[in-house]
Amino acid sequence: MITYVGTPKLETDRLILEKFKLGDAQKVFDHWISDERVTDNRVNAAHTAVSQTVQRVANIVSQYEKEDFCYWAVKLKDSGELIGEIDLYDFEEATGNCEVSYSLGYRWWNQGYGTEALRAVIEFGFRHMNLHKIAAAHNTDNPASGRIMSKAGMVQEGIVRDMIRNSKGQYKDCAIYGILQGEYFSKGLGDSVLIVEDSEK
Ligand SMILES: CC(C)(COP(=O)(O)OP(=O)(O)OC[C@H]1O[C@@H](n2cnc3c(N)ncnc32)[C@H](O)[C@@H]1OP(=O)(O)O)[C@@H](O)C(=O)NCCC(=O)NCCS
Repeated sequence: MITYVGTPKLETDRLILEKFKLGDAQKVFDHWISDERVTDNRVNAAHTAVSQTVQRVANIVSQYEKEDFCYWAVKLKDSGELIGEIDLYDFEEATGNCEVSYSLGYRWWNQGYGTEALRAVIEFGFRHMNLHKIAAAHNTDNPASGRIMSKAGMVQEGIVRDMIRNSKGQYKDCAIYGILQGEYFSKGLGDSVLIVEDSEK
């Protein structure tokens, strides 16, 4: 059974993962959501006006009152800079399974932050939420995403052809990955240091 605790603050070596605030919209727009280098790997199109982002962030913030809502802003611990987002979603009561997705601003790619954030959320999901399985899918032309899934212990389960159609009308094959709670603990993947604070409700 899943134990929902909302979106508590998580801390890794270099990152803080915490709730978004309404005032974050401009940074979200500037750092990743208006950037096609990022959004071409997601389903939804890049935002062209910050008002779209204001609405999106407001929608996220309005859902923090729900215990089964897990949506983190990813910030650098040193500077407090907002560099991306990561969320757990599509929780299924019958199985205890869910999915994870993430995006980082382009200027912070390839510095290990994606892997660090994903590992933190997987650790949280298995140790604190008692999830059974965490799954994700990436476009096969976006290998960096598959790489961070592998580095976080997820295994590829197959490729689904034409799984999504992006905002430019292009069909994309997707690689499906997953990790089970049992294998996570048995492989000793849960050793990363992580401080979980009480969620501010
Ligand atoms: C996916 C994403 C979060 C990765 O974040 P990141 O901080 O760059 O990831 P890391 O630095 O931890 O790791 C990236 C890995 O991918 C590898 N990589 C990068 N580009 C690659 C490429 N074109 N082909 C193969 N591997 C690649 C890097 O070498 C690194 O692996 P390594 O540590 O073994 O060298 C980031 O690229 C992103 O936000 N992309 C756009 C949004 C997106 O794709 N979201 C996920 C949708 S499924």
